[in-house]
Amino acid sequence: MTHSRKTLPLVACGLLFSLTLGEVVAQQSGSGGFARQPADILSYLGAPWLERHEREAMEKPEQVLDALKIQPGDVVADVGAGSGFFTVKLSRRVGPTGKVYAVDIQKEMLDLIRQKIDRMGLGNIEPVLGETADPHLPPQAIDLIFIVDAYHEFQEPLSLVKRLREALKPDGRLMIIEYKSEYAYIRPLHKMEESQIVGELKLVGFTLSKRFDLLENQHMLIFKKGGSQLGLRKRERVGGDPIRNSILGYPRR
Ligand SMILES: C[S@@+](CC[C@H](N)C(=O)[O-])C[C@H]1O[C@@H](n2cnc3c(N)ncnc32)[C@H](O)[C@@H]1O
Repeated sequence: MTHSRKTLPLVACGLLFSLTLGEVVAQQSGSGGFARQPADILSYLGAPWLERHEREAMEKPEQVLDALKIQPGDVVADVGAGSGFFTVKLSRRVGPTGKVYAVDIQKEMLDLIRQKIDRMGLGNIEPVLGETADPHLPPQAIDLIFIVDAYHEFQEPLSLVKRLREALKPDGRLMIIEYKSEYAYIRPLHKMEESQIVGELKLVGFTLSKRFDLLENQHMLIFKKGGSQLGLRKRERVGGDPIRNSILGYPRR
């Protein structure tokens, strides 16, 4: 179909009015809803990299959990849990009266977590097979959503974070740890600017409530529900399925 010079502006106006703001954002980016390209998914074959010894010294996991003041009985969702490096530590913090949902989109990662559950007898961890746009978490059930080194991999961040918001209790917190852009040892797509993270979360109804300067190479940001959400009527991803192509890759860092 062709349009004359006169009709083109009308078509453009019609398009704008038929889309929500969220859809406009989505249509513009074509890469997971935002104007950035998500990173490849770290394959389960790279799980040993997640368990490397240097993590204890460099990422100070116990200090991170101390800072969060996690209480026995809390319900935490470790989203993008990988092989469960943090899941196990979270499980110990929340204790037998608490619960940790370990969410990942790779069944093989959840199998590694199940092995840890069996080996260590951790009865308060529930592995959950999520989808790129849906973590499959219960509504208004979570005190803390815990995301370490995974946000940059989310292929449909707008839809996923919207679902995470629904899973959070009204006064719940969402924490993101991501490598800082200036950290030279990490490839560009696997690290982020704080302003990009804060801007994206704001679009989905989250406000930055606290920033910890605990980690030299990583942002540690705490968000609370607040602000308005974009209307997201459609799945925001356009184009093919980047995961099917990327999931085969050994860690490409
Ligand atoms: C780099 S690993 C980090 C794992 C873990 N958080 C850690 O710090 O050890 C990122 C994980 O996020 C998972 N992931 C990517 N997109 C996801 C999504 N939309 N929902 C849940 N998990 C996702 C990947 O499968 C991978 O296991």
